[in-house]
Amino acid sequence: MIKIENVSKSYIKGKKSIDNLNLEIKDGEIFGFLGPNGAGKTTTIKMITGILNTDEGDIFIDGKSIIKQPLEAKREFGFVPDSPDMFLKLKGIEYLNFLADIYEISNEKRKERIESLTKKFEIYDNLNNEMQSYSHGMRQKIIICGALLNNPRNWILDEPMTGLDPKSSHDLKEMMKEHSRNGNTVFFSTHVLEVAEKLCDRVGIINKGKLVFVGTYEEMKEKFKENKSLEELFLEITENEQ
Ligand SMILES: Nc1ncnc2c1ncn2[C@@H]1O[C@H](COP(=O)(O)OP(=O)(O)OP(=O)(O)O)[C@@H](O)[C@H]1O
Ligand SMILES: [Mg+2]
Repeated sequence: MIKIENVSKSYIKGKKSIDNLNLEIKDGEIFGFLGPNGAGKTTTIKMITGILNTDEGDIFIDGKSIIKQPLEAKREFGFVPDSPDMFLKLKGIEYLNFLADIYEISNEKRKERIESLTKKFEIYDNLNNEMQSYSHGMRQKIIICGALLNNPRNWILDEPMTGLDPKSSHDLKEMMKEHSRNGNTVFFSTHVLEVAEKLCDRVGIINKGKLVFVGTYEEMKEKFKENKSLEELFLEITENEQ
């Protein structure tokens, strides 16, 4: 469960990039976070994960405050950032072992986890190569494997499908469904509205730092009294708020 309470953030004084955001993502839910470029999705995700501080408000992950109990809160989630270009000098296996050390995963468990995850994403054979030799999609895959190594209850993913080939994207979506079926939480941002429409239990739309809609796709159609695709409704909602 992820709870965002009265959160605001400005990068530049007097200009709020996030304006009093309140949002609760429940156990067992896949939640899609939508919004135009520059709307505030990554900023929100960086505050949930403790990379950025909030100016106001607090965020709780399984009841643990990312501000007051950062270590405890960080144990509860796996995070995939929007850019996978990091730790490029490390070999894939070194990166995963580094994360396994941080999460204090036993040798036996990490071996089993690394093998099953990297085989699933078909990068097992590349683990002994430096990550700078990986393609964009392969980097994305190893970051996803690292985020899931600890089997966290909450998945926080910033545009996770970007760069993935159709099979990996399909596999990730199936994994997200299974994870939520098991009572866990998946929070992800995306621009791919077809994915959001099919996959998400609820969506939130943010525009210029303000949450302009939260609910199911069915509720969105009811609210706007129009039987349109999510894409058409999204364009209307974000245009009206300009
Ligand atoms: N480091 C920064 N310094 C100053 N302004 C920033 C910084 N990072 C983001 N912003 C501003 O904050 C706002 C929200 O940006 P953010 O990256 O959260 O958007 P986003 O919804 O993730 O967009 P995208 O869909 O392009 O990934 C934008 O107006 C952006 O210019
Ligand atoms: Mg972003």
